[in-house]
Amino acid sequence: MAPRRAACVVLLLPLAVWGAGLSGYFGTKSRYEEVNPHLAEDPLSLGPHAARLPAACAPLQLRAVLRHGTRYPTAGQIRRLAELHGRLRRAAEPSCPAAAALAAWPMWYEESLDGRLAPRGRRDMEHLARRLAARFPALFAARRRLALASSSKHRCLQSGAAFRRGLGPSLSLGADETEIEVNDALMRFFDHCDRFVAFVEENDTAMYQVNAFKEGPEMRKVMEKVASALCMPASELSADLVQVAFLTCSYELTIKNVTSPWCSLFSEEDAKVLEYLNDLKQYWKRGYGYDINSRSSCILFQDIFQQLDKAVDESRSSKPISSPLIVQVGHAETLQPLLALMGFFKDAEPLRANNYFRQAHRKFRSGRIVPYAANLVFVLYHCDQAKTSKEEYQVQMLLNEKLMPFLHSNETISTYADLKSYYKDILQNCNFEEECELPKFNGTVTDEL
Ligand SMILES: *[C@@H]1O[C@H](CO)[C@@H](O)[C@H](O)[C@H]1NC(C)=O
Ligand SMILES: *[C@@H]1O[C@H](CO)[C@@H](O)[C@H](O)[C@H]1NC(C)=O
Ligand SMILES: *[C@@H]1O[C@H](CO)[C@@H](O)[C@H](O)[C@H]1NC(C)=O
Ligand SMILES: *[C@@H]1O[C@H](CO)[C@@H](O)[C@H](O)[C@H]1NC(C)=O
Repeated sequence: MAPRRAACVVLLLPLAVWGAGLSGYFGTKSRYEEVNPHLAEDPLSLGPHAARLPAACAPLQLRAVLRHGTRYPTAGQIRRLAELHGRLRRAAEPSCPAAAALAAWPMWYEESLDGRLAPRGRRDMEHLARRLAARFPALFAARRRLALASSSKHRCLQSGAAFRRGLGPSLSLGADETEIEVNDALMRFFDHCDRFVAFVEENDTAMYQVNAFKEGPEMRKVMEKVASALCMPASELSADLVQVAFLTCSYELTIKNVTSPWCSLFSEEDAKVLEYLNDLKQYWKRGYGYDINSRSSCILFQDIFQQLDKAVDESRSSKPISSPLIVQVGHAETLQPLLALMGFFKDAEPLRANNYFRQAHRKFRSGRIVPYAANLVFVLYHCDQAKTSKEEYQVQMLLNEKLMPFLHSNETISTYADLKSYYKDILQNCNFEEECELPKFNGTVTDEL
């Protein structure tokens, strides 16, 4: 009886309220408003934590690495949803209200939507552009040059175009006004890293912890509850189908802003378990799980510092800054490894299948780090030395428009020299070609097998 009661209670929760109910547990499928709730009221508000520019400093360069905005499910997810929905329609009995409600739900996703940017995602990007411009008016001033690059994926190119539209017509995009440079080497470095592909992406045992959690007691409990609500034997459900149901709840909310009957299958406790499953995958595939996950991003990390170096050099020799604004659109898979390379959101213990409860207060919660439209911004400042008594060149980092304390100082501003010195090892010793090279096999190894 208990599971059915729980399902009914959930139906009554005001899930449509921003930030309430299940929406805090959607992991990488989270709305950007989850990390900045004030935007639900006013999408152009700079919010209560509006970063104050450091006194006596002028911004020289802004580098933003963005994740695309809200997107549709991928073709694979849509196929699995159609399968689950079809099964519910064939089996639904009027005496089983949850199953009947889902059978009556209109399946509107088509495979052709395959991960494309949703209209909501265009708005995410336009609004983000307008807020960044309002935060840094000196940098986004008329006729400033914007260098805009993107991953080759349609949703990223569309996000870049929406970002550009958000800024209005006064900025210059250089020679060709509409040009967005496709740069997969920097935005999809993971595809180009052979060692990552072999060791993680195409390695069946690399996701061992994720698969073990799917079989573990927490997931089994969620599956039994969902099966009972749907009046079907638990043996007919799999962890993957339960995940598809939860994903559909998230997509309906983020894309259409409606609380669908899919959400009523889950309690908040269930949502926490499914969030952990999503975080486990991010951890082992994009985060601290394997070194190569983050090392593969050093090509992007070094590019960021090369551009900062160049701006510092230009400023020192009183030249105009050639790239004051660099905006690049990629994926959660672009940002998460980069943040791991820099050491952010690292828990004392790895995320594993068997420490769900001990990880209740973990730092590594992908919904808080890389929701849709996530953005990591580096700002380089030139400061008046007489007034600050510090080095002339200083840096701030903002994640999702909030200042991030640097790991070496716990402060939200650092001299550029201190920052470079803290990351000296990565800057000098992380070589993409070497890190990503497949280990060489020689004849002896095969002979021994
Ligand atoms: C696959 O991953 C496992 C676990 O990390 C590792 O021990 C193994 O060497 C990997 N296999 C390949 C081919 O990289
Ligand atoms: C989403 O729905 C809620 C509740 O129905 C409503 O208050 C809110 O304004 C909607 N938000 C958007 C962006 O449409
Ligand atoms: C950094 O600041 C936070 C918040 O004030 C504090 O909890 C933490 O202990 C500090 N860490 C270090 C290394 O100083
Ligand atoms: C080949 O592999 C074996 C075993 O790992 C190693 O001892 C040997 O030095 C390698 N030979 C060459 C030419 O790299």
